Amino acid sequence: MSQNQAEPQTENTSSMLDASVPHSARVWNYWLGGKDNFASDRAAGDQVRAVFPEIVEAARYSREFLRQAVTYLAAEAGIRQFLDVGTGLPTADNTHQVAQRIAPQTRVVYNDPMVLAHARVLLTSDPAGATQYLDADLHDAERVIREARATLDFDEPVGLMMLGVMGHVADPAQARDAVRALVSSLPSGSFLTMSDGTATSERVIESHRQYNESGAAPYHLREVADFAAFFDGLELVEPGVVPLGRWRPENGSRTVVDGYCGVARKP
Ligand SMILES: C[S@@+](CC[C@H](N)C(=O)[O-])C[C@H]1O[C@@H](n2cnc3c(N)ncnc32)[C@H](O)[C@@H]1O
Repeated sequence: MSQNQAEPQTENTSSMLDASVPHSARVWNYWLGGKDNFASDRAAGDQVRAVFPEIVEAARYSREFLRQAVTYLAAEAGIRQFLDVGTGLPTADNTHQVAQRIAPQTRVVYNDPMVLAHARVLLTSDPAGATQYLDADLHDAERVIREARATLDFDEPVGLMMLGVMGHVADPAQARDAVRALVSSLPSGSFLTMSDGTATSERVIESHRQYNESGAAPYHLREVADFAAFFDGLELVEPGVVPLGRWRPENGSRTVVDGYCGVARKP
């Protein structure tokens, strides 16, 4: 593990420890039915849910998408290394667990400056593989890649996971630059996997307006076109950029939620 030297651009480590202020990782954990959250997180989470009840499905579909995308990458695309940026609190089926069920030798680096106290659970690698935890800020791509080299070989393809994290960056151009900086460090044959909330209904917009007044670091909903633009220059994997819950769904009909996801290969 390493110390966070860069100035955090969004939330900081102390806010993760401050129980009186809601924190996105803990609110997300609450929506997912986890226990790593405080009263302030539950209050902010309930406030969103009152206006936009589908937030619970959105969180669940986002984790399901992670499982499906990692399964595709490990089983079909042969990816054996992952960089999971904005990891969140450990939950069922973290990236290394999904990938190592298919290929135990898989190596995974988790990067999230705010969940250090919970990193132990992320470091339970299969002995054939490896996991590492970094507390770098995603804006510091140079540091993320430099420190991830301890575990990942950047001459071999990497699966870059950025799920539910880029909404923490307000400006679409700045967000795109941050993603590009990471993708440009990866070799050809690597993949970018992303999901994010989108400004696709009045209710989701109103719920996030209220959330952003709760004291938590604001979460900015993207226009679908801005989300899709993260994949510019990459080759989208079928079915392309689709609403959460619609990426290769395993069972029948789905609630439509205001979030999108996609997987793309770097040519
Ligand atoms: C909504 S959670 C998503 C967690 C997980 N990726 C998932 O989809 O279940 C967003 C995460 O992004 C992290 N985060 C926020 N700003 C970040 C930054 N600048 N660099 C890295 N991670 C960040 C937060 O700490 C939080 O854990």
